[in-house]
Amino acid sequence: MQSSLQCLRPFSEFFCRSIWRPRPQKSSAHGNPAKWSSLGSAVIFGSDNMVGASDRILDALVEANATPAPSYGADPWTIEAEGLLAETFEHDLAAFFVATGTAANSLALSAITQPWSAVLCHRHAHIMVDESSAPEFFTGGARLIPVMDADGKITPEALGRTLKRLPADGPHNVRPSAVSLSQASECGLVYSPYEIAALTDIAKSHGAAVHMDGARFANAVARLNCSPAELTWKAGVDVLCLGASKNGALAAEAVVFFDRKHAVDFSSRRKRAGHLVAKGRLFGAQFVGWLQDGHWLDLARSANRAADQLSAGLARHSGVRVVWPTEANEVFAILPRALGEKLRAAGGVFYEWNPDSLPENESLGKEEVFLRFVTSFLTSPREVSDFLEAAGAISAPETLPDSDVWH
Ligand SMILES: Cc1ncc(COP(=O)(O)O)c(C=O)c1O
Repeated sequence: MQSSLQCLRPFSEFFCRSIWRPRPQKSSAHGNPAKWSSLGSAVIFGSDNMVGASDRILDALVEANATPAPSYGADPWTIEAEGLLAETFEHDLAAFFVATGTAANSLALSAITQPWSAVLCHRHAHIMVDESSAPEFFTGGARLIPVMDADGKITPEALGRTLKRLPADGPHNVRPSAVSLSQASECGLVYSPYEIAALTDIAKSHGAAVHMDGARFANAVARLNCSPAELTWKAGVDVLCLGASKNGALAAEAVVFFDRKHAVDFSSRRKRAGHLVAKGRLFGAQFVGWLQDGHWLDLARSANRAADQLSAGLARHSGVRVVWPTEANEVFAILPRALGEKLRAAGGVFYEWNPDSLPENESLGKEEVFLRFVTSFLTSPREVSDFLEAAGAISAPETLPDSDVWH
């Protein structure tokens, strides 16, 4: 039988068969010439990492490419990016760039845990279900413990109950050394500064440091009327994995320590993991392009607006239930199965999602599917309205040509 965790991954065969090869189109709002658009080709709601990079980030890379520069992060772009991060977060910090969110999370956790300790996280957290055993590997064996009765977000009550249930018979039992929060959450919800502070207070009262998986941190900042500082160190976050890849970069993630004591030895951890990139400007330039002039928040606002439009449009469709408030750039909705199939056939790319992550008061009918739609900085209002129109108007082609399968 398929486990609930296996179920979280999309049905990739169906998924691949359902994607039409993207056709490059004219410039978008962000000037990117390789936009995938319009029904009849593909409308990308599969993930925000399916689109390319913003022009500003590509320009920064081209500029950084033009001259020789010191290697291993001693280049001017990496140094400028570190400065921009300190400015953005209004705090002294130690920042380390890596290529993937998995590396960022696993290495960040390794810096604040011991191999014989525990990391508490949401039961659907990326570190729990989508990073193979990298967090365990890089922490040297720390145990991930799910906060089981958390719904769309971890609540102080749920965290408190889980902590209380952990046996404390040292040295026989693992004790928590870290609590990990995802911003935005696994269900596309955002944690307010007040909610974060309540959780970090509990974590700290149990001797645990706080890690934030910020793969969609930009979307949360863009949504909430507060500063990056208020969502992190001011609310008690010790280390943030700040993801740019899902929001306009090609591949760039920063591990940001707000207290340098946690960053001791981190450069060796990163090197040992193979994430100290010789041409460090590759990450530095992307982060400079991303952070300068608030570009990162413009991109995130654009993605959030598209999600709002999609969410409102789907909710108006009879038989559709948007199951979580749309607070970042993800829409989780139950659709009649036939409608889901029709949207796929019309070129929609999206994942079937794990019903185990539905809110308590929701359940899936026999002829229904639970879907996740993710918008990106490139999703245009026109794409969303065409897609919504297709929900009402377009009938499915019987088969998709094999030559159009995207690998
Ligand atoms: C919440 C979250 N964290 C981290 C990541 C980054 O993972 P990757 O290692 O694929 O870059 C993702 C990507 O899907 C994510 O959704």
